[in-house]
Parts: sequence; structure tokens; C-alpha cells
Amino acid sequence: MLQGERVRLRARERDDLARLWEFNNDLAVELAGGGDPPMPQAQARLLAEFEQDVAKGGRDGMSFVIEVDGQVIGQCALFNADETAHTCELGITIGDKAYWGQGYGRESVRLLLKYAFRHHNYHKVWLRVHAGNERALRAYVACGFREEGRLRAHVWSDGRYDDLVLMGVLREEWQT
Ligand SMILES: CC(C)(COP(=O)(O)OP(=O)(O)OC[C@H]1O[C@@H](n2cnc3c(N)ncnc32)[C@H](O)[C@@H]1OP(=O)(O)O)[C@@H](O)C(=O)NCCC(=O)NCCS
Repeated sequence: MLQGERVRLRARERDDLARLWEFNNDLAVELAGGGDPPMPQAQARLLAEFEQDVAKGGRDGMSFVIEVDGQVIGQCALFNADETAHTCELGITIGDKAYWGQGYGRESVRLLLKYAFRHHNYHKVWLRVHAGNERALRAYVACGFREEGRLRAHVWSDGRYDDLVLMGVLREEWQT
């Protein structure tokens, strides 16, 4: 649905689930992504969640798989939309580690920002990232995000505490 130079963002399909399940069970990917402590995920559970979601009806929301040369390499989304303040949160995981550090992340984030500002008329997009996630921080800064705050020693990840960094980009900053 959203086409960049090398990256395509499109809706998640049933056929994608086996690959996404691999990503969800990769400890290095889970740790890099932050969030909850890593836990194993059964493929049946992922399928059941997908089926439940589809059965609910309505629209697919703002979640995408990231595709490169016809291969799914990860997922990204806009969520936690505040329809009064016109803000939303951004999340991204490139689950195939072979694709880390090659610019696919920043291209996906740029596509999401354009989608957020031009198509949804959001005023600000924000995100949370572990301070130790240097690769992510650099990619986000390259896309125009700035650090807005930091919760000290706020997350426990891989045997140690880390700061949680809040970053954001305003529409007018993105436009320039
Ligand atoms: C974070 C993520 C989306 C970034 O996408 P990406 O395609 O890997 O990143 P990019 O290639 O666009 O940019 C990576 C930047 O980090 C640098 N980098 C690459 N490998 C690095 C490493 N091991 N350590 C530190 N920096 C590194 C690159 O040089 C580049 O910075 P620069 O342009 O200033 O030189 C992706 O790596 C990913 O999904 N990682 C796993 C999950 C995760 O961390 N999600 C984010 C949670 S907030």
C-alpha cells in the first residue's frame, strides 16, 4: 500500500504468519525491540489472534508488514492514536537480522511519517526506545525525531536496567 524506493508497506496476510512467528521467537530481535520480557509464542496462537482480529470486522488499522523484493522482513505500525491531540505512537521491528543496518528501517519510518502526516493529518508522531538501542536511535534521528525526555533506569532488559527515551517529530519539523 505504501511504496518506497526499496520497501513496500502492506497489510498483514495469513501467509505471512509463519515468517512473523520466526521473528517473534528470535531472542535477539525481541530484546532489541524492547517492550515485554521475551516469551515463546506458538504459531497456533499467532494464527488465532489473526483470525480473531479478522473476525471482528471493521478495518485493518495502521499496521503493516515490511516487504523487500517480495520478502517480508518485519513489521511496523502507528498506534495509540489520540484523536483529540492528533498524535500517535510509532513502532517498528525488522525481524530478519540480515536486513539490519541497511537503511530499510529508516525508509519504512519515513513512509510511516508521510502516511501519518499527509493521510491522517496527525500533528505529532512519537515513540519509545531503549537508550542502549543505538541502531534504532540513529535511524530515528535520521528521520527527524528528537529526544523529548528520558525515564532513567526505567526498563529491565537482558539483565540490566536501561533508560527509556521518548522521541517525537512534529508535522512542521517533518515538512522541513
Ligand atoms: C531499529 C531498526 C528499525 C532500524 O532499522 P535499520 O534498517 O536497521 O536502520 P538503518 O540502517 O536505517 O540505520 C541504522 C543506523 O545505525 C547504525 N548502526 C548499524 N549497526 C549498528 C550497531 N550495531 N550499533 C550501533 N549503530 C549501528 C547505522 O550506521 C545507521 O546510522 P547512521 O546512518 O547514522 O550511520 C531495526 O534495526 C530493527 O528493527 N531492529 C530490531 C528491533 C528494534 O530495535 N526495534 C526498535 C525498537 S524502538
